[in-house]
Amino acid sequence: MTVPENVRREAERLRNLIRYHNRLYYTEDRTEISDGEYDALMRKLMELEERWPELRTEDSPTLRVGAEPLSAFPPVIWDPPMLSLDNVFSEEEFRDWENRITRELGLDAPPAYSFEPKLDGLAVALVYRNGILERAGTRGDGRVGEDVTRNVRTIRSVPLRLEGEVPAKLVVRGEVIFRKKDFLEMNRKRVQRGLEPFSNPRNAASGSLRQLDSRVTASRPLSFVAYGTAEWPPGIDSMRSLFEFLERAGLPVNPRNTVCFGARQVVEAFRKLEKEREELPWEIDGAVVKLDSAEMQRAMGTASRSPRWAVAWKFRAEEAVTRLLDIEVQVGRTGRLTPVARLEPVNVGGVTVSRATLHNEDELLRKDVRPGDSVIVRRAGDVIPEVVRSLGNPDGERAERFRFPRKCPVCGGPVIREESEAAHRCINPSCPARLRESILHWGSRDALNIDGLGGKLAEQLVDSGLVGDFADLYHLNAEELAGLPRMGKKSAEKLLEELERSKGADLERFLTGLGIPGVGRTVARALASAFPDIHALAEADVESLMRVEGVGPILAGTIRRFFGDPVTAGVVRRLLDVGFDPKGSGGVRGGGRLEGLTIVFTGALSMPRERARALAEAAGARVTGSVSGETDLLVAGPGAGSKLKKAVALGVKVVDEDEFLEMIGKKAGNG
Ligand code: IVH
Repeated sequence: MTVPENVRREAERLRNLIRYHNRLYYTEDRTEISDGEYDALMRKLMELEERWPELRTEDSPTLRVGAEPLSAFPPVIWDPPMLSLDNVFSEEEFRDWENRITRELGLDAPPAYSFEPKLDGLAVALVYRNGILERAGTRGDGRVGEDVTRNVRTIRSVPLRLEGEVPAKLVVRGEVIFRKKDFLEMNRKRVQRGLEPFSNPRNAASGSLRQLDSRVTASRPLSFVAYGTAEWPPGIDSMRSLFEFLERAGLPVNPRNTVCFGARQVVEAFRKLEKEREELPWEIDGAVVKLDSAEMQRAMGTASRSPRWAVAWKFRAEEAVTRLLDIEVQVGRTGRLTPVARLEPVNVGGVTVSRATLHNEDELLRKDVRPGDSVIVRRAGDVIPEVVRSLGNPDGERAERFRFPRKCPVCGGPVIREESEAAHRCINPSCPARLRESILHWGSRDALNIDGLGGKLAEQLVDSGLVGDFADLYHLNAEELAGLPRMGKKSAEKLLEELERSKGADLERFLTGLGIPGVGRTVARALASAFPDIHALAEADVESLMRVEGVGPILAGTIRRFFGDPVTAGVVRRLLDVGFDPKGSGGVRGGGRLEGLTIVFTGALSMPRERARALAEAAGARVTGSVSGETDLLVAGPGAGSKLKKAVALGVKVVDEDEFLEMIGKKAGNG
């Protein structure tokens, strides 16, 4: 069925509107509508495209939300290759470079340069055909890069369609970066969600762009800045006019690019940039200086790896050479495994350094540093020192390549590598390195919701040796607890009650509490509605796990390993031993009988009030403290007073404890 004309026009109108607001926001840094209004436009367009797939165009803004994961990036060939730049590190080296230029070009006056802050991100090329973004790829080795088209499309500052007159084929080159404020904001949110923050904007940009699942990229606030084209567009004869051309086409260019005449002005601009570095909205590692004139660039030509018409003048990082003694793997409080180099102590810019981070397995493999090697160590500002690269082993024979451990070096528990991250993690919640965090998480609101189990107490429990394992929490007694600083008899008893109550938790909360990487409350809920109880889940194979919404192959593998590994399965078993019996929410279950009912307890009950509450909640009820028009059921024990009166007055159904237990199927002999 063909798309009706009015629908076609509406889609076109929405697309234009969205494009207009994108452009305002991402290239002019201002807005005319709220986020909510913007989302509404986007949703409307997605609905239309969903209903009429024919409407989907290659430049539709809806492509920005990402698509199903790929299994690998296809290669993309760059011809001419994407070049790199030669570096200089001082005024003297820069002047040498200028002298070569003036000599080779036979100039009597120094030329005009395009002076550009050197953005520290990831180089990409965007291929536009007839103004539509057709392909985007990373630089790779210069000749073959990775096709990251779907990911680049999610970057809001990349136009999916160019404006005005552009050549039939235009290859735009530029840098994918995180603006500092976007980076900080993203890290803040990650920490809030219990995720590891990214170490710096550059690694974060490269990690975010090289995601097989473009929906992950779409969730990261990346930016793009254009700094060149593979070929000069017709009529463009200088860098300055090229930037104007790119801007007219709707591409973001760096507003800090300037034109300098001769080395003296370049040196001045460089010193100024160095001073302003901290205040700039993005991270830079120096400046790129290019001949401004297209004709002069052509005359200088390119060497094999880099153009002769441009140079990168880099800020000097403080570096030193030393011997790498050993590689250790540290386990952080969130279970993250970080390889750390133990070094022969060396002075780097006035500070003695004996350890330096190797970040993660990818970095370690890329740098291929091995014990015994001579290595370059760098300190940049107050950043943790890092190993830059290996200079090989001065004694000849190199040690074996370092193998990343598959078992946690602290507890021997299983180690996994998360889908979207370079980091490895120990997933054993009882791992001593993670124990304090695990306990805190176990007691948190979305998990077992244990009142009084805060950070300080978790720390004391672990430090005092009272809790060395996740299930030890349930073997604590009032005397032990009351002996802890700032813990009275009353609060000790209260905590024990809370712990007791928590044993009635359903599968969703239990799973959330285990803190399996990737299993937050949402996934836990989906799993809890797909499996009747913890035993069924623990025995489920990867295929059945993958049938659950939100569970992909990698997460399914993680869950499988969690329940299959003796160390982590042991944690679960010990929790079941102390009385947990978490049930799912779907299919056959004892609960659900009070689904949707709002209930109130009053008077004396034979069990702790919290236990009654947990039972009611497990059966699907909402428990509140006072009787109102919304109350469906009052459970009244001996001594009930005003609540009972009010319930009767309002015509609310009243039952006693026995009847309540019967209703939820927990009456003796029944469940
Ligand atoms: S021009 C053929 N301009 O620096 C010219 N590069 O060290 C190639 N970079 O791979 C690059 N800002 O990722 C150019 N204004 C700028 C740049 C820039 C950052 C990066 C780019 C390149 C690397 C070379």
